[in-house]
Amino acid sequence: MITFKNVTKKYPDGTEAVKSINLSVKDGELLTLIGPSGCGKTTTMKIINRLIEPTDGEVFIHNKNIQEYNIHELRWNIGYVLQEIALFPHMSIEENISVVPEMKKWNKKDLTNRIDELMTMVGLDPEVHRKRKPSELSGGQQQRVGVLRALAADPDIILMDEPFSALDPISREQLQKDILSLHKEIRKTIVFVTHDIDEALAMGDRVCLMQNGEIVQVDKPQNLILHPANSFVEDFIGGRKSPWQTAVDVIIDQTQQHVYSLQEFEAGALPVDETYTVKKSNGNFAFGVHKGRKVDMPVIEHGNTLAEAMSFFEQENYSLLPVTRNNELIGTLSYKDMVLHLKKHRRTKGEVIQS
Ligand SMILES: Nc1ncnc2c1ncn2[C@@H]1O[C@H](COP(=O)(O)OP(=O)(O)OP(=O)(O)O)[C@@H](O)[C@H]1O
Ligand SMILES: [Mg+2]
Repeated sequence: MITFKNVTKKYPDGTEAVKSINLSVKDGELLTLIGPSGCGKTTTMKIINRLIEPTDGEVFIHNKNIQEYNIHELRWNIGYVLQEIALFPHMSIEENISVVPEMKKWNKKDLTNRIDELMTMVGLDPEVHRKRKPSELSGGQQQRVGVLRALAADPDIILMDEPFSALDPISREQLQKDILSLHKEIRKTIVFVTHDIDEALAMGDRVCLMQNGEIVQVDKPQNLILHPANSFVEDFIGGRKSPWQTAVDVIIDQTQQHVYSLQEFEAGALPVDETYTVKKSNGNFAFGVHKGRKVDMPVIEHGNTLAEAMSFFEQENYSLLPVTRNNELIGTLSYKDMVLHLKKHRRTKGEVIQS
């Protein structure tokens, strides 16, 4: 969907901010972009919406060179959350969010509903806040409005440059969840820059790690941890292997949300686009269902370590797998459960990796 071909950005003073990068962001993917300060993250983002023109190479969106798009249309269809909060100070929150929808000539009623929906989503009461000016909001609230403004006109692509940097950990976690559930719902293509490796691992379908204008590794989060391309990646990830020694039963989802009985399965009407597990009447695992079809899923034992469980995920394409104790199906383990555990583990140990 977004493809970089040998893209270089060299500034007049000779700084090569981005060096011949090749990168493909897939349709509907959330790609996190991470790396030390000055490695070229913001430059890479701004090349996508042509706020920066590369000195060499080409970028394609939907297989069309971005140079061939009308630049206004290109930008309207790419929501952008800037690294620094940049709301229009003289405009109300409502007006700030409305900028692109108004350019796209949305009708008033749709727009009003959209603003209510968006503000409510991030915990800003529309009644209280819609008429306020940015200066009458806290820094974190302003940052949320910045995110909403990027989402407002329903763009195909959303670029977020450290959108949560001014937020306290709790709001940050809340907004991470909001973005993830939003992403799950609407499957937009999102490129998300962060300094926080936990955030990058927890949020990204894939993580792109940059160093000195180059891409060092683009991979699924677990592959960065388990198969770092070199010692830079290893150092950047830090000593993250230990939480992977945690036993699976600490991490599994025991809500039975993805567990159905054989009767329910046979009665039909179970979600076709979800992966889930089915148990026998004695509580034992029967089979898994993927894309509406019965499949033979590997079974994870509750005492397996996370690292062992991961090897099952590497062999299979399923988003979740059954976990059993003495043959009984006690829950499911998903990739997201593992990443969230990893994140929490680092937080509770109070280790923060600075990039
Ligand atoms: N206008 C400019 N002229 C010269 N060099 C520039 C210019 N803009 C950026 N750079 C340099 O390009 C490199 C990449 O900058 P960029 O803003 O993309 O980094 P970044 O990864 O986003 O960093 P941070 O994490 O600090 O935001 C840096 O070395 C920066 O100093
Ligand atoms: Mg930056």
